[in-house]
Amino acid sequence: MAKATNITWHETQIKKEDRRRLNGHSSAVLWFTGLSGAGKSTLSVAVEQELHGRGIRTYILDGDNIRHGLNKNLGFSPEDRKENIRRIGEVSKLFVDAGVMVLTAFISPYRADRDMVRELVEDNEFVEIYVNCPLEECEQRDPKGLYKKARNGEIQNFTGIDAPYEAPEHPELVVETDKQPLEQAVGQVIRFLEEKGYIE
Ligand code: PPS
Repeated sequence: MAKATNITWHETQIKKEDRRRLNGHSSAVLWFTGLSGAGKSTLSVAVEQELHGRGIRTYILDGDNIRHGLNKNLGFSPEDRKENIRRIGEVSKLFVDAGVMVLTAFISPYRADRDMVRELVEDNEFVEIYVNCPLEECEQRDPKGLYKKARNGEIQNFTGIDAPYEAPEHPELVVETDKQPLEQAVGQVIRFLEEKGYIE
């Protein structure tokens, strides 16, 4: 595809800070990463409910959902996953600019791709939350039967089976979903956001 030329950035009168002031809270991207079945979607949905209950404007971007629309032309090759995460990073940046607390739930298996998103937004606007659950446990849960298919060779390039997952080295937060109930995991995220001043 040819790159566009002769394009100019237009400044707006209303800035991110104005929108945050109007909303009465900060905005950031809470980036949930982890294996399929680790609990990214479940945790992000529960955290969103808690934030919404506190009057915070939120939006969830979820792998399965986004791949039905915006990213329906992408598969699971390393290049497509990179493009998937790049687009989500750009969309997340727009949400942060809109003053919204955006929660993303993507496997995002490559460290470089997650770091690329971190670089897209400002310092402290990217909160990497490693939803950590051992592969054996994810495989046992197998909520969509995908691990079984991957083991049978019906799905290729499945993360954890025949495609890599690069665990975060310095995430803002690690949540171990096999060691605690959901409410505790939600509490851990909310406490972190309070302590770091993202929410009151
Ligand atoms: S990625 O790696 O970040 O681009 O993946 P993501 O956009 O989060 O999509 C992951 C969901 O797609 C389903 N699925 C697969 N996952 C991993 N590998 C392969 N090959 C694959 N094929 C389909 C799967 O349901 C993932 O959802 P979650 O919620 O993670 O289980």
